[in-house]
Amino acid sequence: MPDPADATALKREHHEIDCAIEVFVEAVELGYAQPEALTAALDTLRRHIYVEEVFLFPPIRQAGMVMPILVMLREHGELWHTMDTLKDLLADGEDLRRLAKTCRQLLAQLDRHNSKEEPVVYPHADVDLPPQTTTELARFIESGRAPDGWVCQHASG
Ligand SMILES: [Fe+2]
Ligand SMILES: [Fe+2]
Repeated sequence: MPDPADATALKREHHEIDCAIEVFVEAVELGYAQPEALTAALDTLRRHIYVEEVFLFPPIRQAGMVMPILVMLREHGELWHTMDTLKDLLADGEDLRRLAKTCRQLLAQLDRHNSKEEPVVYPHADVDLPPQTTTELARFIESGRAPDGWVCQHASG
């Protein structure tokens, strides 16, 4: 059975975020950094998490998938924490080794997270979402931005 359209778009975003971070970290390890490339990837990841927590997860949780969604939210909190560390390291601009190491840590966290989210949560994207939410979600993936100052539900955890 083909994936729901929203799931396809979200999976594509997983892949694009991973690729952008990998390209960045390889460049850093070769001795040059393009901070704006990482900043753009982190902005996309923040928006991706926003879309999931605001549009995708609530109806799926209401349909009964309470524990899997809780696990996803907790892992978003861990991703958020690592992104905050990366933001500080980018602003500091000094410690490229630690920057590369922290990027690799984020990639490993994303791998663990996405490898559960894609088979467990995303297949519910068309079954459990009201049509209006699906439309909003698709539009948001195309062009939206997380509101300034928005943090994920488990950001401090
Ligand atoms: Fe997620
Ligand atoms: Fe995701």
